[in-house]
Amino acid sequence: MIVKNYKLKKIAIFASGSGSNAENIIRYFSDSTEIKVVSVLTNNHNAKVIERAKNLNISYKIFNKSEFNESVEFLNYLIKEVDYIILAGFLWLIPTRIIEKFPQKIINIHPALLPKYGGKGMFGTNVHQAVIDNKEKETGITIHYVNEHYDEGTIIFQKSVKVELNDTSETVAEKVHQLEYEYFPEVIESVILKK
Ligand code: GAR
Repeated sequence: MIVKNYKLKKIAIFASGSGSNAENIIRYFSDSTEIKVVSVLTNNHNAKVIERAKNLNISYKIFNKSEFNESVEFLNYLIKEVDYIILAGFLWLIPTRIIEKFPQKIINIHPALLPKYGGKGMFGTNVHQAVIDNKEKETGITIHYVNEHYDEGTIIFQKSVKVELNDTSETVAEKVHQLEYEYFPEVIESVILKK
């Protein structure tokens, strides 16, 4: 008899807004026997990601700043229940106390080609508008490990897409989202399974 020697890896997804990436990741791993999305965590009680989690039967938690930064219970939940943390449109800086407990186990997606257009305040439309304003010929996605600074952790994967003269921040956002949907789940999978 062949006994498989692996432990199911558990993911928590942090998201602050719509959560279309969160949904895409949840769907991607829904039949996996190796990786399971166990919860969606959000700082925003109006976030659409909550609705998505409910519809997909994934448990969710809403937390405030002091729980995130100081609560022992919050940290213990992560330590006990989660192997990897995925940031999918999550806008708060991850505190050192969480980073220390999850070395190279927190992965973020950024909607531009870092190190360009990263840092505090650089999220969603702000990023795409800056790309348009600077007449960039290309933009893309960056998937990277998370450290104590916004968008500065080691880069795992990048993919670019052309910016055309008639593109707007909305059309660029759409192109970038398509790249995110195509690549983010696969990259998460290959990091976790060390492929
Ligand atoms: C995504 O494009 C993600 O790359 C970006 O927010 C969007 C969330 O969309 N993240 C950042 O800007 C982080 N700095 P979603 O909620 O539909 O997944």
